[in-house]
Amino acid sequence: MSTIFAIALGCAAGGLALLGSVIVLVVLCLRHRKRTSDSSESNSSGQAFSEMRGARRLTLEELRSATNNFSSSNLIGHGMFGDVFNGLLQNGTVIAVKTRHSPPSQEFIQEVNYLSSIGHRNLVNFLGYCQENGMQMLVYEYVPNGSVSTHLHGNSHGPGVRLEFKQRLSIAHGTAKGLSHLHSLTPPAVHMNFKTANVLVDEDFIPKVADAGIRGLLDRIGVACPSSRISNDPFLGPRGKESMVFSIQSDIYSFGVFLVELISGRKAVVDQSIIEWVQNFQESSDISAIADSRMTSGFTSEGMKELLRLASWCLNPMSETRPSMSLVEAEIHRIREQEIRLTTVMSVERTPTVTLGSQLFRASR
Ligand SMILES: *[C@@H]1O[C@H](CO)[C@@H](O)[C@H](O)[C@H]1NC(C)=O
Ligand SMILES: *[C@@H]1O[C@H](CO)[C@@H](O)[C@H](O)[C@H]1NC(C)=O
Ligand SMILES: *[C@@H]1O[C@H](CO)[C@@H](O)[C@H](O)[C@H]1NC(C)=O
Ligand SMILES: *[C@@H]1O[C@H](CO)[C@@H](O)[C@H](O)[C@H]1NC(C)=O
Repeated sequence: MSTIFAIALGCAAGGLALLGSVIVLVVLCLRHRKRTSDSSESNSSGQAFSEMRGARRLTLEELRSATNNFSSSNLIGHGMFGDVFNGLLQNGTVIAVKTRHSPPSQEFIQEVNYLSSIGHRNLVNFLGYCQENGMQMLVYEYVPNGSVSTHLHGNSHGPGVRLEFKQRLSIAHGTAKGLSHLHSLTPPAVHMNFKTANVLVDEDFIPKVADAGIRGLLDRIGVACPSSRISNDPFLGPRGKESMVFSIQSDIYSFGVFLVELISGRKAVVDQSIIEWVQNFQESSDISAIADSRMTSGFTSEGMKELLRLASWCLNPMSETRPSMSLVEAEIHRIREQEIRLTTVMSVERTPTVTLGSQLFRASR
């Protein structure tokens, strides 16, 4: 009797224990499922960033000592992101630091991770970021020889330098490569603030596009660009139809304005329709009416006209009919090769001497 009772009790206890462990197991499983789905959810928002190596973080301390505690003598400009300081890191790297006041945010980290993934020889190299003490900062390599805009139009320190047509072609080509690289990414990166002042040149006059992705970064961390700034920008496409809408095609329009500035040496202004101007010129087809008179030595009016035709294509009011940036790059390459071939000087011994871009620069200094 008592043994049967004991067996029954044992079974019941065993059953309970089994039930208990099943319940524990189920609960554990559910928890685990929940945790993994949580993490995949929190990761899915940043999916586009999942394959990127992170951006390097620099400390405020490092940047303070690099920029002389952000002294006014290190202040080199004020851009869309904020004040820009130059500085020297302890390891000898010369940097430009863009700074803005802002509480720290996770979106900013995602954005800098993205920025650090879009490097190219013709883009200003992004080195890292800092987010401390109510400041957000972007750290770039310092590009020593100013912007194409100052070289073309001069600045308070003096007039611009003389750039010959072939030099302008090689600047245009490198710049096109930089933009073309942005557009070739998946998903394509739109520059959104391309202009002549954002094309910097290094000591070998290799062009490097600055500010790539900054307007996009500010948009995504919730900072609106003042609209006055937008309505005064001659590099943005035709007003009304496209204003405030940034796309690959609007970058290509901006590049067209850049080409017109390179050819004419004149500064684009908002009031004057650059499109009409270029079209008027094409009807009259007198290259000397538009070409920068500072270009003196060997260029062909054919090459100049072809570049202007390309600029006009980029400026087409119908954005869908503009060429792609990779096509623009290929066209400039072709025009440049042709220009070099046609202007190769035959010396007395009938051996062609080609003047390389780098020699041209030295000769013009
Ligand atoms: C996101 O996924 C990566 C692996 O792809 C993982 O290392 C990381 O911990 C995840 N992040 C979060 C917040 O779950
Ligand atoms: C740097 O400047 C900040 C304010 O601009 C000041 O509070 C700080 O003491 C300065 N640090 C050094 C080391 O001079
Ligand atoms: C110096 O430090 C910066 C930032 O950490 C880094 O990007 C750069 O490659 C370093 N340069 C050298 C020469 O080590
Ligand atoms: C920048 O270019 C100008 C004009 O070619 C030249 O005089 C100057 O030495 C260059 N500066 C640097 C830092 O290379």
